Amino acid sequence: MITHTKQLPLDFIKQDKVTYNHIPSKKATFKAGLDAPVHRWFRLTPSYSPDLVGEMLNTMDSSTGDVVLDPFSGAGTTLIECQINGIDSFGFEINPLLYFVGKTSINWGLDSKTLRKVFSDIEKKYLEFDKTYSDGDLDNGLLVVPPIYNPFRWWRRDVIKKALCIKLAIKEVSQTREIEDFFMLSMAGVLVPDLSNVTLGKLQLHFIERDDDIINVWDIFSNHALMMIDDIEKNIALANSGKSHLYHVDATIENLPSPKKKANLVITSPPYANRYSYVWNTRPHLYFLDLFDTPRQAADLDKKTIGGTWGSATSILQKGVVAPENEAIKEVVLPVANEIREVDNLMANYLVKYFNMLSRQIITMNQVLQPQAKLAYVIGCSRLKGVYVETDVMLAEIIERLGLGFKIDAIERIRKRNSGKNLHESIVYAQR
Ligand SMILES: C[S@@+](CC[C@H](N)C(=O)[O-])C[C@H]1O[C@@H](n2cnc3c(N)ncnc32)[C@H](O)[C@@H]1O
Repeated sequence: MITHTKQLPLDFIKQDKVTYNHIPSKKATFKAGLDAPVHRWFRLTPSYSPDLVGEMLNTMDSSTGDVVLDPFSGAGTTLIECQINGIDSFGFEINPLLYFVGKTSINWGLDSKTLRKVFSDIEKKYLEFDKTYSDGDLDNGLLVVPPIYNPFRWWRRDVIKKALCIKLAIKEVSQTREIEDFFMLSMAGVLVPDLSNVTLGKLQLHFIERDDDIINVWDIFSNHALMMIDDIEKNIALANSGKSHLYHVDATIENLPSPKKKANLVITSPPYANRYSYVWNTRPHLYFLDLFDTPRQAADLDKKTIGGTWGSATSILQKGVVAPENEAIKEVVLPVANEIREVDNLMANYLVKYFNMLSRQIITMNQVLQPQAKLAYVIGCSRLKGVYVETDVMLAEIIERLGLGFKIDAIERIRKRNSGKNLHESIVYAQR
């Protein structure tokens, strides 16, 4: 049953800042990045589009000399786009896979001739390994299967065997770490869904039956790797190349790494309050790339991420009542959480924890911001247990109430998510 948000004890004053400027989904989401140089190296379904970054840079009157920060870098869309446009930038990312993707995607200093030579060496080595090893070597330890729970649910035995032969070949012939990373990213780019028994569905991974599919592992990998080399050689050779740096760090911690120059623009998209788990959806890559080596690590990371409620993170939230960490959360979030609590304690706690962490991130980010900073947060509204959570307006209220000197310029609703449910995706603009 759908219930509607009751009149809250405190009206959301920022409602008067809401504007509607719908951008077609194809232009706003990851879909626009699928054909764009570099952005197409790794598909992260909740990514925003390169065009949207351009739009935010325009709205914030950006120019060379600006320093952009993305505290939730994901697949690196903001940093890549800034680098193309000659704007310096830095970013934070907690997930080791997405940190690896972002860091490797902004490293354009590789020589394409060397990459082509290494590519042909990888092919030779792969053919050798493919003959040497058999599917049986997945059971005797000669080929090390990713230590993910139930690995053969994720990959067919013949497919993972060939994928592991490519991985061994990459590691054996790459002379430098940077070259190895480049080709491991080619592998990560096709691991899901091309090589695995999953489909991406709307957002989350779903297992599917692929027993009868023809999966030509080498062709899939080599097409992707050659496309990446083409991008290095032709498509980004003329880019303006701003300097960028990505830090592997939890953006909510008190002592953030110090960048060379503080940021004056923030362009970002935090996780939404919709229980999507970035960790769950990147597990196959995390284990295939040896970024994790025990099944526990994934669950442990999920507890530290904003919006994660997978596995033990959920059982923790089932008990007791999560308290608001500051007055802003108490005033803005608690009334909505209490309405949800009437039907579901877990989701009420989830919402308070979500905004606690988001406000912690905004407070701690202040140490790496210039006094004249402007913010652009892309965020989606949700419905939790039937209660409408107007995340964009709530975030705007919190930003102003945190006492950091930010005033809201606009809450621009750019598209509807999940048509029919009236859930918006918005850009919240603020500045001091
Ligand atoms: C909506 S995605 C960002 C997508 C990005 N804009 C793109 O285009 O690829 C949110 C990101 O925040 C990261 N994240 C979640 N909690 C975090 C934390 N505490 N510190 C840093 N990053 C975090 C997630 O791993 C995820 O990559």
